[in-house]
Amino acid sequence: MIGVLVSGNGSNLQALIDAGLPITAVAANRKDAYALIRAREAGIPAATFGLDCHASREERDLMMATWLEEHEVELIVLAGYMHLLTPPFLRRFPDRIVNVHPSLLPAFPGAHAIADAIAAGVEKTGVTVHLVDEGLDTGPVIRQEAVPVEPRETLEERIHAVEHRLLPQVVEERLCLAR
Ligand code: GRF
Repeated sequence: MIGVLVSGNGSNLQALIDAGLPITAVAANRKDAYALIRAREAGIPAATFGLDCHASREERDLMMATWLEEHEVELIVLAGYMHLLTPPFLRRFPDRIVNVHPSLLPAFPGAHAIADAIAAGVEKTGVTVHLVDEGLDTGPVIRQEAVPVEPRETLEERIHAVEHRLLPQVVEERLCLAR
């Protein structure tokens, strides 16, 4: 079973849903994440774990981990989740948390990877799916695919198309390994 963490639009969540993967829980760090609507429309239990309702990030993460375990989650997917996870959460799911990032890591970590690649003038960027550790977009790479920067007007769209193909493939493989 898969738990997906989201913060925003949730197009990667939608790709996982459309691939028929067994998602049993979707958790967001913000109530207004459109991804929560996608989860509810697919009939998947969804909950918000905002920092405003918890004394610390650690406490929030522990409550979220417990909720995910209650939903029998074996693998966690960060699909546009914009908070770093604290060590207590990471220890609950060792080697079972994957993230999708819109660059060829270690190049261009952080929240503005596509704009940063354009600004740097590189010829190619891409998509990385990797295991999550304590760092910002660090952790062992599972799979990468390059995407040419030009034409830059369509770069974001082309990167998302690769994400939506690559992430479900990797998640399916990792789910098998997690069992
Ligand atoms: C994606 O580009 C993902 O790589 C990055 O955040 C974006 C999330 O998009 N981590 P969405 O919410 O899945 O549409």
